[in-house]
Order: sequence, then C-alpha cells, then structure tokens
Amino acid sequence: MSSGRFITFEGGEGVGKSTQARMLADILRARGLGVLLTREPGGTPGAEAIRTLLLDKQYDWDARAEALLFAAARSDHVNHAIRPALDRGDWVVCDRFIDSSRAYQAGGSDLSDDAILSMHTIGSHALMPDVTFLLYAETDDVAARLAARDGDETDRIGGRSAPYHARVAARFRDLAAMDPERFVLIDASGTMDIVHERVWRAIAPLLGEGG
Ligand SMILES: Nc1ncnc2c1ncn2[C@@H]1O[C@H](COP(=O)(O)OP(=O)(O)OP(=O)(O)O)[C@@H](O)[C@H]1O
Ligand SMILES: [Mg+2]
Repeated sequence: MSSGRFITFEGGEGVGKSTQARMLADILRARGLGVLLTREPGGTPGAEAIRTLLLDKQYDWDARAEALLFAAARSDHVNHAIRPALDRGDWVVCDRFIDSSRAYQAGGSDLSDDAILSMHTIGSHALMPDVTFLLYAETDDVAARLAARDGDETDRIGGRSAPYHARVAARFRDLAAMDPERFVLIDASGTMDIVHERVWRAIAPLLGEGG
C-alpha cells in the first residue's frame, strides 16, 4: 500500500464514532501504516480554539454563523493537518467531517446543502473522504451510553431538542442514499468489538485483506 485513504466517521451524538475511529486507527497502525487520528471540530490548535467557541453555551450562534465557524475550523484542519498527512501517504481517520455540517447545519435549519458545500469549496478545496462510515443505533441504546458517559451534561449542540436530532439523523440517511459509493452504513448496536468488526470488514479489502 503506497497511498493512504481518508476515512470519516459520522452519525448522531454518542453512537460510538470516537470509539470506532480510535479502534480503526489502532488496527491500521498495528499493520505498520502511518495514521493521523483526528476529529472535528478541531484537530489543529486554531480549529480547537474555534471548537471551544462553537460548543460553549454562553454563545448564541445562529445557523449561518455556526456553519461559517465550522467551515473556518475545517479549513484550518484540512490545510494544516489532513492534506499534509494524505500527501505523506498516511491514512487519515477523522471523527466527524463535512457530512456533519451537512446534517447539522443544513439539516437542522433553512441553509441548503449547496450553501454548506460552497463554504467547503472555499475553505477546504471541497476535499471529500474516500470512505465515510455512518453509524446508527436505537435512540434508547445511545441514550444509555451517553448517560453512562456524561450524566446530564451536554454541549451547545448535543443539548438541542429531540426533533432537531431526528432531523439530523434523517439528513444523514439522505446523504448516504445520495452517495452510496462513499458511505458505508454501520449498525452500531452490540459491543464495541462487534461494531469494529463491521467497520473492519469494509476496510480490509482496501488493504488487500479478506476482512
Ligand atoms: N458498542 C458499544 N457498546 C457500548 N458502549 C459503547 C459502544 N461504543 C461506544 N460506547 C460507549 O458509549 C459512549 C459513547 O461513545 P463515543 O464517545 O465513542 O460516541 P461518539 O459518537 O463519539 O459521541 P459524541 O457524539 O458525543 O462525540 C462512550 O462512553 C463509549 O465508551
Ligand atoms: Mg465523540
């Protein structure tokens, strides 16, 4: 394998994106590959600073300001971390990326998908992942995981209403249906190891392994 791939994990709050991104990065590293494990919003000092602004409940960003801040954070992240890693031939495993903006900032407001993609073109040369895992699970299962992890704590976006999150989930499913070549739907129920196995089955063939 000479060149790395750009892999993203998407889905609603607490479905297991960070867990599965870490497990995939670990198994790729164990095979001797260079791997950048990163997340959004964030992944560079500048983008992490914007993350703090985005998630802090003291600010009341509207959908447009929020979408622009995400696009600015992503621009810094792509230009200073993701693009250089891909140019080195490393694999990039990213916990949320452009599809989260499409689902949350467009799906949850009157902003169009085209508007979000225009911001992505301006900020990040429209860089798209090679493979996007969309994780989904029953709301009750996820609520139990989040309660165990966070108690009653939520951030500014995670704490929005159930209908908002339902719209986001529907939008994620639409995006996957529109781009079946890139998206891999992953049933995120079951243990972390079982979910990881489902992810690995989709990646192993890219490494010439049976999976
Ligand atoms: N398959 C699983 N079974 C049970 N618990 C899990 C599973 N996967 C993850 N968890 C636990 O559920 C919680 C949420 O997982 P994780 O933090 O990976 O989700 P996330 O999608 O990254 O969440 P967020 O949207 O808040 O970033 C964590 O405490 C994690 O340890
Ligand atoms: Mg996470």
